[in-house]
Parts: sequence; structure tokens; C-alpha cells
Amino acid sequence: MTNQASPASVRIASGHWVGRKVGITGANGALGRALTKAFLAEGAWVIALSHSQRPQFQDSSHDAQEWIPWSCGEETELEPILQNLDVLVLNHGINPGGDQSPVTLSKVLEVNALSQWRLIQQFEKIADQEQNREPARELWVNTSEAEIQPALSPGYELSKRLIGQLVSMRWSGRDSSQRKTLRLRKLVLGPFRSDLNPLGIMSSGFVSRQVIWQAELGIKLIIVSPNPLTYVVMPIVELARKVYNLALTINSPDR
Ligand SMILES: NC(=O)c1ccc[n+]([C@@H]2O[C@H](COP(=O)([O-])OP(=O)(O)OC[C@H]3O[C@@H](n4cnc5c(N)ncnc54)[C@H](OP(=O)(O)O)[C@@H]3O)[C@@H](O)[C@H]2O)c1
Repeated sequence: MTNQASPASVRIASGHWVGRKVGITGANGALGRALTKAFLAEGAWVIALSHSQRPQFQDSSHDAQEWIPWSCGEETELEPILQNLDVLVLNHGINPGGDQSPVTLSKVLEVNALSQWRLIQQFEKIADQEQNREPARELWVNTSEAEIQPALSPGYELSKRLIGQLVSMRWSGRDSSQRKTLRLRKLVLGPFRSDLNPLGIMSSGFVSRQVIWQAELGIKLIIVSPNPLTYVVMPIVELARKVYNLALTINSPDR
């Protein structure tokens, strides 16, 4: 489904994202909508990848130019869309709270970690097919402070730790560190208000603007949190993971 370029997409374009095609999963959620609005304001072409029907927006500044339906498990069907993207933001997620039943744990691992992991591998392959692309493609993975802190939801924490460690592993893999075709960024976000976390302190609009600003600065580990400890602990955790992963790396043909 395609929309005409909204007036917002040409209004205050600052240069960095103008004309870049940005795909966002979980586009109908609070952060998905806020990122859509922020990217449109920067002049990007936004492609919403969503499990929901396209909403009717009163205000076109929120309205992605394209709305692509998909479901977790159908990642390969997104291949033609992913081929055309400059930036892919993996943002879909669920929070099962205290539910720790096997069915729920399987679902949260599938949605929050495994479907994102499949999309990461798919997008890395696509990026590698075009060695001289300028600027390089970007892949942003939205984990959470729950990677390193309690979030009062054991299943959520488990899934976010898994996808977070997978991104850390891709950062320390030899092929990834030498890869010029893809910039892999991790978003480590503190609590913001949404269906997933109605008690969040920050607004999704504030978080989205911070994320985009930090990406423009070239920051790989993007942190937006009211908790100062996250800014100290998360980089240390990443460094420890890097040292550990590199120390145990063996050469494998399909790394
Ligand atoms: N809110 C917080 O405090 C917080 C803090 C740190 C990190 N995060 C992370 O930020 C991301 C966005 O969260 P949010 O707070 O904006 O939550 P949200 O408003 O609930 O949005 C999450 C979106 O994920 C998609 N989704 C829901 N169920 C799904 C399923 N079964 N399979 C696949 N996708 C599904 C939906 O979008 P579509 O219908 O468009 O597919 C949904 O709107 C999540 O990854 C979350 O873990 C949130």
C-alpha cells in the first residue's frame, strides 16, 4: 500500500535521512509511530512493516508512505522489500509480564528474538551483495534495558537478553567488524509509555528523536534512559562480551 509523500516529509528535512528508505517493524506501536513521524520530518521515505491494518491518521505527519503487512515467521517474504531499504529498524515486541508458561515463553522468544535474528541475517546478506553502496545500509535492533536489568517480566528479559547478545556477537564477529556494507546499531531504551509499558516515564516522541540524533552522531550503542547506571553498565557489558566472544572465536566458513 503506497501513500503520496506527505507534506511533513519535505518540511524540515535536515539532510542525513533525506530520500533514504527506512523500514520499521512494529510500526503501529508507540515507538514505531514516533519513529515514523521523526523520520518523515527528516525527509525519509518510511515503509511500515506491520501486523496491523493500516490506521486512518487524522494527521499525515504520522503516515508512512508504504504499509506492508507481514507476520513473524514470514521473514523471507519480506525479501523484495528489504532489498530496497537503506535502513531497517527492528522494533516489534511483546511483553508477557509474569506469564512464564511454555507457550508464552515460546511466543515471546519467537517475536522478540528469533524473528529479529532471522531478519538480521537476511539483511546482512542483502547488504553484502552490494559492496560499494554509499552510504552503507543500516540495521537498528531495539533491545531494552531489560538486557541487563529486571523489567518485572522474566520472559521479556530472557528474550531481550537473547537478541541483545546476538547483536553483541555480530559486533564481535570477524566478518561483522570488517563489514563496510552495513552499520549495525543497538537501541537500549529505558521505560517509555506505550501499550507494552503504560507506566513508562519517557514519551515515545522524545525517545525517537534521541535515537535518530544519536544515530546521526554515528553512535553504535544508542542508549536513551532516565537511569544513569545504564550509560555506565551497558558499555562495560558490551566490552566484556566483545573480549569473551573474540577470545573464543574460531574460524568457520559460514560465520
Ligand atoms: N515501552 C518501553 O518501556 C520499552 C522499553 C525498552 C524497549 N522497548 C521496546 O521497544 C519496542 C517497541 O515497543 P513499544 O513500547 O512501542 O510497544 P507497543 O506500542 O506495544 O508496540 C509494539 C509493536 O510490536 C508489534 N507486535 C505486537 N505483537 C506482535 C506479535 N505477536 N508479533 C509481532 N509483532 C508484534 C505491533 O506492531 P505492528 O502491529 O505494527 O506489527 C505492536 O504495536 C519493543 O521491541 C519493546 O520491547 C520498549
